[in-house]
Amino acid sequence: MKSFFGKRKKKQTESLFKENEEIPQHIAIIMDGNGRWAQKKIMPRIAGHREGMNTVKKITKRASQLGVKVLTLYAFSTENWKRPDPEVNFLMQLPVDFFDAFVPDLIKENVKVQVIGFTDQLPVHTRKAVNQAIEDTKNNTGMILNFALNYGSRSEMLEATKRIAAQVQNGQLEIEEIDDSTFESQLMTAELGDYQNVDYMIRTSGEERISNFLLWQNAYSEFYFTKTLWPDFDETALEEAIGIYQKRHRRFGGL
Ligand code: FPP
Repeated sequence: MKSFFGKRKKKQTESLFKENEEIPQHIAIIMDGNGRWAQKKIMPRIAGHREGMNTVKKITKRASQLGVKVLTLYAFSTENWKRPDPEVNFLMQLPVDFFDAFVPDLIKENVKVQVIGFTDQLPVHTRKAVNQAIEDTKNNTGMILNFALNYGSRSEMLEATKRIAAQVQNGQLEIEEIDDSTFESQLMTAELGDYQNVDYMIRTSGEERISNFLLWQNAYSEFYFTKTLWPDFDETALEEAIGIYQKRHRRFGGL
């Protein structure tokens, strides 16, 4: 496009991403848009979930190579049980297929699998596959690939509150002693240690809401919303997103 002065304006399509600049340590992603991706291609919704699983592989690999410490992926929420049974069943099979195919790569990449969520309510085959992947990768020291499976943040916080109240009730804890770290120690993300809080929250598909995801842990995270549907989100899209993070100025309430 020509500007008023006749010079050709440079189109803003170049990625801002720089590999040697700050990389967010904990990235959390709401992987949205699988159903719409499939419907656009006149395919059943589950085809979108299957393609979404391939995106998980690509993004895990690239995030790990870039030095991300924790990648938390919202794979199934406590509200997703409301979907039709065949779709729920398919979503419960996906972790089985994913770990079956991808654990050797995760080991090669030094990626450690962890899970947050009410996993005791998952079907046995899903729980077994998840536990096996955790076991198989437990000695890995690189990026943590943290799946949120049957996860809901409000329930997580209510359970944490109940446990803290019980500690007060039985005299283990004084009310005045309750602080951020007391609360964080009772959250499902406690095992993430220094990386418990999210630096960058990405949601694909154009929806701009948080959907009961890591409400405490996202208190000071940066948000990035993209219209790209999850199955189309690739390594370049991740780099573009990180490039935008690299231009943000995080103030944590200060100046
Ligand atoms: C939201 O898209 C997506 C989900 C509820 C499931 C996400 C799961 C995956 C991407 C695969 C996970 C892979 C592993 C390895 C566990 P949607 O179905 O709500 O899409 P829509 O908004 O277009 O309908």
